[in-house]
Amino acid sequence: SGYPNEPSTPSFLSVDVETLQVQIDELSSFSDTPAPSVTRILYTDKDVLARNYVKQIMTNSGLSVREDAVGNIFGRWQGYEAGLAPVSTGSHIDAIPYSGKYDGVVGVLGALEAINILKRSGFEPNRSIEVILFTSEEPTRFGIGCLGSRLLSGSEKLASTLMNTVDAHNISFLDAAKSAGYDMDSKQDISSVFLKKGTYSAFLELHIEQGPLLESEGVSIGIVTAIAAPASINVGFEGNGGHAGAVLMPNRNDAGLAAAELALEFEKHVLQSGSIDTVGTVGIMELHPGAINSIPSKSHLEIDTRDIDEERRNKVIEKLHESAIKIAQRRQVKLSEFKIVNQDPPALSEVSIISAMENAAMVSNLSYKFMISRAYHDSLFMSRVCPMAMIFIPCYKGYSHKPEEYASRDDMANGVKVLAITLAKLSRE
Ligand code: GLV
Ligand code: MN
Ligand code: MN
Ligand code: MN
Repeated sequence: SGYPNEPSTPSFLSVDVETLQVQIDELSSFSDTPAPSVTRILYTDKDVLARNYVKQIMTNSGLSVREDAVGNIFGRWQGYEAGLAPVSTGSHIDAIPYSGKYDGVVGVLGALEAINILKRSGFEPNRSIEVILFTSEEPTRFGIGCLGSRLLSGSEKLASTLMNTVDAHNISFLDAAKSAGYDMDSKQDISSVFLKKGTYSAFLELHIEQGPLLESEGVSIGIVTAIAAPASINVGFEGNGGHAGAVLMPNRNDAGLAAAELALEFEKHVLQSGSIDTVGTVGIMELHPGAINSIPSKSHLEIDTRDIDEERRNKVIEKLHESAIKIAQRRQVKLSEFKIVNQDPPALSEVSIISAMENAAMVSNLSYKFMISRAYHDSLFMSRVCPMAMIFIPCYKGYSHKPEEYASRDDMANGVKVLAITLAKLSRE
């Protein structure tokens, strides 16, 4: 291509994985729960500190840093051809309650290290390369996952909803954002985030597998060919409640038991889908008033279901709805809410990026396999605005969303290297 020091030989690239580990450890200290757990919720003080920490690393790496209205952060390494759409990569740094320090973080700090090693090797990109830190991949605070990337992909529905969304403490999205330094007044402010098609030539995400396959099979790199389709549903039941001693059993309509029964029915629908790829989780089940001697008068469930087959997943949602109606009738409670919060299609990776990743693994002498992602990622939404693919690395026993989450330095170094080589290749295309 005529450029000097093209990293066609991976020996050019030595990953400073010690520094990467130090950064991962430092970032994990911005947490609302004690180590080794990490809890970092959108727009909290700890989230703001963590964002500042990453912005500082971006600046130190010579990137120009920009933030959009909701706090997606973009660090750009300016390429030679300013007119070409940049290649992008990135992930998230928010962490669900009592989780670990690698989920998302490897794809942000690892991407910054990928840029550093390309810089150290003397590589000069043709297209710009941008590292994106996405706002709130996790649904913890406002109940919607991939908030930042969903908006980048142009979700009018989310832009409208966020004008009236509140968290569990009744703090509005707009007030929470403001307290973190992101001041929005209108739907237009929120939709200013939408990306135009063609903004990026590609999006790549490096992530821990969050499953056990790579580790158990002794494979270094997973190349993700598709991301499963996620959905989430909120359900509420209401009954009369009453005194736990005084109200006799035939006279009760217990909203808590309706919730319990629905959870078990839901499990049956998932198990009976006909495929091992259908999964379902009732991750939140709340009872009101929540006293041992009071019959629950209200219950609230938040239900997650996913599949690589969108129709099969939608069938489970239909059956869930039918069960909720039947249970409410039989138990004489009111089905006060049945709300599909999101019902997203799956995403396919781009063949040409898959090939570039495969080639990067081969020239690095790393074993690799193709796989699907059962977890969702910001890549699910970036695939709506540009071609996308993901790189997985092994993690200890497949653990994720818990404090025991761990990825070895070697595995991270391998992932960063494959990412760097792929970014370099795509930046020249
Ligand atoms: C996001 O972390 C997910 O639940 O896949
Ligand atoms: Mn996660
Ligand atoms: Mn993640
Ligand atoms: Mn995730």
